[in-house]
Amino acid sequence: MNCRLANILTLLSTLLLLVACSSNSGQQSSVISASSFSNDIANEAVMGKWSRSCALCHINGEAGAPVVGDNEEWQRRLAQGEESILKRVIEGYASMPPLGYCMSCEESDFRAMIAFMAGTNQ
Ligand code: HEC
Repeated sequence: MNCRLANILTLLSTLLLLVACSSNSGQQSSVISASSFSNDIANEAVMGKWSRSCALCHINGEAGAPVVGDNEEWQRRLAQGEESILKRVIEGYASMPPLGYCMSCEESDFRAMIAFMAGTNQ
């Protein structure tokens, strides 16, 4: 009887340890994935520029462009890191034209546009 109780206690503490460990790692990964362009807010000025340039291709996925709001596709592209994805927007990448046809856009505009399309700036 005592022995069985000890077994149960061991099992319980092991379970508690497992639960504690897995909830820790869960917190860490959500912090990492939420961080890309999360502080870049797309205000009216940014959205005006977006609708005159990026929208041409990124609303209906022209030439394979990642569609606005397709969060899964955007997460896949954001995985390369902020610096790399910004460089591709500025220099152009495959069918994506340099500056995304927005000659008046600053880097801060691009950051906010990407955050808007990827849905990371709630
Ligand atoms: C003429 C069409 C077109 C316009 C205009 C356009 N894009 Fe794109 N964009 C694309 C295409 C096509 C791709 C996908 C390229 C590929 O992966 O082959 C893309 C990809 C991207 C990517 C992901 C790049 C990567 O590394 O995966 C970002 C970010 C992006 N565009 C931002 C913008 C922004 C911001 C604007 C407006 C300032 C814009 N685009 C305007 C066509 C366009």
